[in-house]
Amino acid sequence: MTTPTTRDEPRLSVGQVAKRADVAVSALHFYETKGLIRSWRNAGNQRRFKKDVLRRIAVIKAAQKMGISLLEIQETLSKLPESRTPTKEDWASMSRFWQAKLDEKIAYMTRVRDMVDGCIGCGCLSMKSCPIYNPDDIVAKECNGAVILDQPERARAAKN
Ligand code: FES
Repeated sequence: MTTPTTRDEPRLSVGQVAKRADVAVSALHFYETKGLIRSWRNAGNQRRFKKDVLRRIAVIKAAQKMGISLLEIQETLSKLPESRTPTKEDWASMSRFWQAKLDEKIAYMTRVRDMVDGCIGCGCLSMKSCPIYNPDDIVAKECNGAVILDQPERARAAKN
């Protein structure tokens, strides 16, 4: 176990972190309950944060702007050794990974947009003919109902 240096000591109050990171205190509480950031209790039982929490919050905010869910952010951050704060290289790697995820989502949404052409002004939501409700009827062999819209990986696998 290493002795924390003065620089590593958790000294920032939740209010200081909120102000410096430009986020609401409630957001910090939420991030903490989701395991995205961590605080320590001081002798007065007040929450204190290490200074590097600011970089961690910057990564979280940037990822959220990319449309990455908090769950995905949490999963990615949890892979860092000893839950360390992401370095510049970590961020480069994470943003590449998330960019690929965004490409998948964009491709999926493009397919949905193309399929919706036939639905405009229709409203039938037919299990037999609606490409949005049951595209290519590709899940009919496996189960009942239209469960494919939120499962693009499954749709691709079924088509191949
Ligand atoms: S709603 Fe009729 S084809 Fe989709």
